[in-house]
Amino acid sequence: MEVQSDRVMALTEWEERWNQGRTGFHQSHVHRMLKNNIDKILCGRQQIRFFFPLCGKAVDMKWLADMGHIVVGVEYSEKGIKLFFEEQGLQYQEEPVPTIPGAKVFKSSDGKISIYQCDLYKFSSAIEGQFDGIWDRGSLVAINPCDRPKYATLIKSLMKKDCRYLLDTLEYNPELHQGPPFFVPEEAVKSLYGEACDIELLQAEDGFEERHKAWGIDSLLEKVYLLTLKAN
Ligand SMILES: C[S@@+](CC[C@H](N)C(=O)[O-])C[C@H]1O[C@@H](n2cnc3c(N)ncnc32)[C@H](O)[C@@H]1O
Repeated sequence: MEVQSDRVMALTEWEERWNQGRTGFHQSHVHRMLKNNIDKILCGRQQIRFFFPLCGKAVDMKWLADMGHIVVGVEYSEKGIKLFFEEQGLQYQEEPVPTIPGAKVFKSSDGKISIYQCDLYKFSSAIEGQFDGIWDRGSLVAINPCDRPKYATLIKSLMKKDCRYLLDTLEYNPELHQGPPFFVPEEAVKSLYGEACDIELLQAEDGFEERHKAWGIDSLLEKVYLLTLKAN
């Protein structure tokens, strides 16, 4: 991780990627780790409220909304947000967010999906309260490594007492690829969340795909953890 610790990606660079269609991170199907572990998040609960940090145009949001859940996402790229609603065939309205200067919220007409267009660090529990579930895919691994403590503090503040937080991470040789996505080893997860949360490794799988060859790496391990707040 040392080798990647100074790498900083500006929000404008993410916008550029969206404008140039360089969104290889996007999956057109529901993420298998979410599908495999959905019961561990729901625990029999229905119509729960999910938070998607750095949501992009993840189809997982529609999948959960179709199951009756409420989804709130945060994404900086307006283009990404509009593509989400258009590609999913969802009508939406756009409104300013008075408490976050410059931000907008895009809401599906049925009210089940709201995506805030702003820098994640401007979002807080004052905007949408706390959540029952969090799906963190392409998020902790995408933020600048120097922002991880700030990110973890925000995410913990968005967790209801019984929130179940599913976290997807990637492990590979960081000497070979500068990121994003960044290398997030188990020790980093523990150091960011271990004091406040119980952490259970649910699944670890070979995540190497053809497209990863272009990163110069030859192996990639994808791990998914379930985080719950410790009782105190
Ligand atoms: C790797 S992509 C993952 C998107 C989505 N989670 C997925 O799995 O397809 C990271 C996304 O975060 C957005 N992003 C990066 N930094 C952000 C920030 N500070 N605030 C809001 N969005 C951000 C980028 O525009 C990009 O769409």
